Amino acid sequence: MNKKVLAINSSKRKKNTYKLLTDIKKQLEDINIDVDIINLYDYTIKECLGCESCILKNQCFLDDDMDMLMSKMQEYDGIILSTPIYLNNVSGRLKTFFDRTCRWVHRPVLAGIPIMNVVSTAASGIKNTLKYMDNVAIQWGAFPTDGISRKVTTIKKEIQPKEYQNFVKHLMMPKELYKPTLNQLILFSVYKVLALKIMKIDTDYWDEKGWSDKNYFFDAKINIFKKIIASRFYKMLYKKVNKA
Ligand SMILES: Cc1cc2nc3c(=O)[nH]c(=O)nc-3n(C[C@H](O)[C@H](O)[C@H](O)COP(=O)(O)O)c2cc1C
Repeated sequence: MNKKVLAINSSKRKKNTYKLLTDIKKQLEDINIDVDIINLYDYTIKECLGCESCILKNQCFLDDDMDMLMSKMQEYDGIILSTPIYLNNVSGRLKTFFDRTCRWVHRPVLAGIPIMNVVSTAASGIKNTLKYMDNVAIQWGAFPTDGISRKVTTIKKEIQPKEYQNFVKHLMMPKELYKPTLNQLILFSVYKVLALKIMKIDTDYWDEKGWSDKNYFFDAKINIFKKIIASRFYKMLYKKVNKA
């Protein structure tokens, strides 16, 4: 069966960023990867109320399309996030969307899903924006891979397969071959300590998932040195943090 990818556009226009997505879709479909493109502006996404109920009670009081979108994202083998760069960062729409996924930070559901980030800009903000988007992916428990960027002056430059090869590689390969970075292992440790010592509401979830006695979400190819550093970090943090 073909792998399925969800590509998310977060510009109100179907212009530069959307063009990059349609180019990538065409190329991925040529290698039998199905791509569905959605536009965040086609959905109702209300701004986060800041009540923290999603974190504290695992429930959001806002009535809009977010639950549907968050369920939809879990139906795919890989995700492409995209944004026009605004003030050297993601568009407001994408930020609002990210804020509303906050419950995933404590109860990750996208563990092991490869994410590729795509940005378009007049000139500035590429590095900063891609870095931020990678960070969100890691906080979701997902796996950031390639980052594709174009400036308005290079928007017509065709996307090259090498620009998405890491994404495709991770889409195709068994999860056991994933190599989590130290950053991913450290973040896993932080959220594990939170789940086991502070956020009682998450303890059962982490136990059910079998993560409570793991050093990553699944059995992966963890570099021995990174494993030792992350494990020491975990033990130190576990000792320091007092039970709630
Ligand atoms: C509100 C706003 C803020 C922007 N901020 C930046 C910026 O900080 N740096 C930059 O180089 N381009 C900036 N741009 C230009 C867009 O990033 C660029 O035109 C982008 O390709 C638009 O993508 P779209 O056609 O998908 O909407 C901004 C555009 C808008 C409308």
